[in-house]
Amino acid sequence: MMKNPFSLHGRTALVTGGSTGLGLAIARALAAAGAWVLVNGRDKAKLQAAVASVEEAGAGAEGAASALPFDVADETAVAAAFAQIAQQHGRLDILVNNVGQRDRRALDAFALDDVRRLLGINLVAPFDIARRAAGLMQTGGRIVNITSIAGPISRGGDAVYTAAKGGLEALTRALAAELGPRGINVNAVAPGFFATEVNAPLVADPNTRQWLRQRTSLGRWGQPDEIAGAVVFLASPAASYVTGHLLAVDGGYLAHF
Ligand SMILES: NC(=O)c1ccc[n+]([C@@H]2O[C@H](COP(=O)([O-])OP(=O)(O)OC[C@H]3O[C@@H](n4cnc5c(N)ncnc54)[C@H](OP(=O)(O)O)[C@@H]3O)[C@@H](O)[C@H]2O)c1
Repeated sequence: MMKNPFSLHGRTALVTGGSTGLGLAIARALAAAGAWVLVNGRDKAKLQAAVASVEEAGAGAEGAASALPFDVADETAVAAAFAQIAQQHGRLDILVNNVGQRDRRALDAFALDDVRRLLGINLVAPFDIARRAAGLMQTGGRIVNITSIAGPISRGGDAVYTAAKGGLEALTRALAAELGPRGINVNAVAPGFFATEVNAPLVADPNTRQWLRQRTSLGRWGQPDEIAGAVVFLASPAASYVTGHLLAVDGGYLAHF
């Protein structure tokens, strides 16, 4: 029996889109569990502030952080970032594919180029990053894809995001099957409604609050820190026999009607 099966001490983790929102909460929690966290995003100033916050969270647990700026949709930049990880760290233990962009429009309002761009960020980029990460992983490696409750369920006016997140959920199972023989576990975390910066107008809206009160078992918005425990668990030795799983962190949204 391990002393602390949730410890990530000595692990190196990459969190894409770790400078704000759920990604920052996840990066902070990984560092608090003892990991060295490579925090990704595009804006270098935002990244600098995020690295300071992640380091503060890791203090005492020997977790630390550094910035790894690149655009997940830029194949050349992704390749350069992975060459840097290989050179500076020699390996990667944990990948959290967190970047995701939403663009809610009716079907006919989408030009195909917009569809391709969104699928590129939400599905093609996690595919590319996951296979590059797997190339740097040994037995015990962990990949966690951040999907959404839009995927298992859907609503009108959100087709491209839903298709991409449903695809990422399916990709999670496919990666689990393909990488399992190498001892790499691949799982997905599906957030429900979280009070992140991008959702600020909805969080301030009393009608949305009232709707979530009725629509979710817990009756409220999720706070960004509430996503992190699920990701730490899936990244840790405690989840050694869990792979190909979708873990909803949604206050009961998927379980409730
Ligand atoms: N918030 C929710 O309620 C909710 C619900 C369901 C699912 N999710 C999913 O959870 C994940 C995080 O959501 P969030 O609300 O926390 O997002 P967010 O606040 O919009 O955070 C986005 C992060 O990704 C970075 N980013 C955006 N595009 C990027 C790119 N092309 N390359 C590299 N970094 C990029 C941003 O930094 P830069 O702009 O500096 O690049 C920032 O760090 C997403 O996959 C989202 O779909 C969220």
